[in-house]
Amino acid sequence: MSELAVTGGRAIRSTPWPQWPRTTAAAEAAVTDVLRSGRWAVSGLSNGAGDAYDTRFARAFAQYNGVGFCIPTANGTSALMCAMRALGIGAGDEVIVPGLTWVACASAVVAIGATPVLVDIDPHSLCIDPAAARDALTPRTRAIMAVHLFNAVADLDSLTALANDAGIALIEDCAQAHGARWRGKRVGSIGTVGTFSMQNGKVLTAGEGGACICSDAELADRIYRARSDGRRLSAQRAPAGRMDLEEAGGVFAQNFCLSEIQAAVLCARLHDLDDENRLRAQRVERLRRSLSEIGGFGLQRSSAGSEQTTLYHFPVRLEGPAFDGIDAAPVGTALSAELGCWVHQPYAPLDRHALLEAGRASVPRPLRNADEAHRRHVVLPHWLFLGAERDIDDIASAFDKVKRNARQLEAAS
Ligand SMILES: Cc1ncc(COP(=O)(O)O)c(C=O)c1O
Repeated sequence: MSELAVTGGRAIRSTPWPQWPRTTAAAEAAVTDVLRSGRWAVSGLSNGAGDAYDTRFARAFAQYNGVGFCIPTANGTSALMCAMRALGIGAGDEVIVPGLTWVACASAVVAIGATPVLVDIDPHSLCIDPAAARDALTPRTRAIMAVHLFNAVADLDSLTALANDAGIALIEDCAQAHGARWRGKRVGSIGTVGTFSMQNGKVLTAGEGGACICSDAELADRIYRARSDGRRLSAQRAPAGRMDLEEAGGVFAQNFCLSEIQAAVLCARLHDLDDENRLRAQRVERLRRSLSEIGGFGLQRSSAGSEQTTLYHFPVRLEGPAFDGIDAAPVGTALSAELGCWVHQPYAPLDRHALLEAGRASVPRPLRNADEAHRRHVVLPHWLFLGAERDIDDIASAFDKVKRNARQLEAAS
């Protein structure tokens, strides 16, 4: 029985992992172009050099996702806020949000004055459970937020039917799913609106950033104004020294624009997204095979209709007698020590969050599956899957070692 690295044994791996975020020559050239251009924001004066990078990224990302419109935003939180505001959601309204996701999904609802209603997840996909969403509908429900979590697509068959029957919006939060495909379409293009985050850890990133996509021109116009202090992009590009954004009035809005530096990075890195997604998908297949040979681990299942999932985090469920009575937290710490990288539990269920103070959110039923998922899983970040096959073998060896020595972690559980 070899000693675990976490208690002083020899670690499985000491070599570095692929770096994330990544730079490329194209990204650096685009950033340099912006820095020298005299225009660092779409909200700045035109330099007369054609469309802002913001507009170019919007066009490219809409085309990539097969939709008519994309509106870049400062981050994923503001993408959700602008989408909901544009849908007319506000004070007195309810939005159904999965109980296991990043807190921004719910706090964005609070930020626009509405109430997030937290519901349980499906234990296999870890995404929102459509039956729980149906049970939580009230006359005040205005939207369901489907988050495509970690490495899965939510059950869009059931959620689309549910939203249509109830006459409410389906918001697809694709912050973790850029490029995923469902029944021939990219995620984000199926619901009423799709939102994205391009924060540092996301598979397409500019450090911070976000976007909304949709197919409805009027909705797109309202989202654009919601993120641009109420302004629109003028139909005719402004000459140098004039503004491309023109006053439109009529909507309550703030400035949630990206900088041109961020938009330039996104324009350049969008070209690499499919290749990087493909590599992660190949590498993770190897880990799936190894973990099933080792035994004692359960894997996330994407919903029916998923044709291509995006690997953002790879959740692994601790199952079987080896892990009886052992929490995921010390297992994550032990794996981190073996691998020299970040391995951790999934989010704590949102009903444990300060969101619930002062009645900001409501929880109609206990979030049992979300709680169980938090206690029984560890998650691996996507950049571990951007290297060589032997990296994956190290990960498998670490799971094997920690499983064989799991009793050493009992005291910490
Ligand atoms: C599912 C989900 N939604 C929304 C967000 C918020 O995005 P941002 O951090 O860019 O505001 C995140 C960020 O982690 C996320 O994972």
